Amino acid sequence: MTTPGPMTTPGPRDPTAGLGTGRPEQSAYMLRTAAMEAGRAYKEQLLGLLDLRPGHTALDAGCGPGTDLPALAERVGGTGWVIGVDRDAAMLAEARRRTAGLDRVELREGDLNALPVADGSVDRAKTDRVLMHVPDPAAVLARLHAAAAPGGLVGLVEPDWDTLVVDSEDLDTSRAFTRYTVTEVVRNATIGRSLARLAEQAGFTVETVCATTPVLRDAELADYTLGLGRNIERAAAAGYVTEARARRWFTGLAEGPFHASFTLVTVLARR
Ligand SMILES: C[S@@+](CC[C@H](N)C(=O)[O-])C[C@H]1O[C@@H](n2cnc3c(N)ncnc32)[C@H](O)[C@@H]1O
Repeated sequence: MTTPGPMTTPGPRDPTAGLGTGRPEQSAYMLRTAAMEAGRAYKEQLLGLLDLRPGHTALDAGCGPGTDLPALAERVGGTGWVIGVDRDAAMLAEARRRTAGLDRVELREGDLNALPVADGSVDRAKTDRVLMHVPDPAAVLARLHAAAAPGGLVGLVEPDWDTLVVDSEDLDTSRAFTRYTVTEVVRNATIGRSLARLAEQAGFTVETVCATTPVLRDAELADYTLGLGRNIERAAAAGYVTEARARRWFTGLAEGPFHASFTLVTVLARR
């Protein structure tokens, strides 16, 4: 199962050419997403909610290319400790590059199901757009609960792809794109709405639930982030929409003005 990811750019194109290209390098995709205005806003909000203090041990579970590690390190200061965990060696290599010189940051390669962190050792933890990918989110939340120190805070952010809207005169094809994304592309596509319940079921006390709505107004960036071209092509191959309609929809998006948005849910939970 894949995730929404970088695609081709809508625009004048050979009508016989495919809409999708190969998957660009994932850590670059993650960094570009984080740099988007909408990406920065929800990340700032999450860091604020986590109430990080000097001396804390902070865990970034599924840290990807290390986007948030410098900010975590700054907040826990010279007496704190930051642990980034990811299972992807290429992501960790990028994270290592980004945190070179930050001697209070440690990177560990591992799967969140067997989180390589001692029980009760973490004051603050965050996981950002990771649970939507894992086979058993409840098991990962249970591991995070075990890793958290009593009273520790965990911040979780996940999208709900059922809320994805893409503006087009062809509303049915936009809906087909969302339906395909939810059904075929993302493993736990609607986890955003279930996040608070899952956290409670894992033993946490949920303190805050809030939602943000990133708005993408740049067709190229949205294609890069949401996989508009590649996934509408796959949706057509799977019979969600005709090929001709998929092609018209995709090329029409470039004519703009462009709008796509979706809901990201943030949960702050205490052990
Ligand atoms: C969408 S990226 C988010 C990265 C980072 N949290 C951020 O906000 O930039 C998802 C990350 O989760 C990692 N991941 C997915 N499943 C995992 C698992 N079971 N164990 C460890 N890492 C996992 C991927 O390797 C990837 O780096």
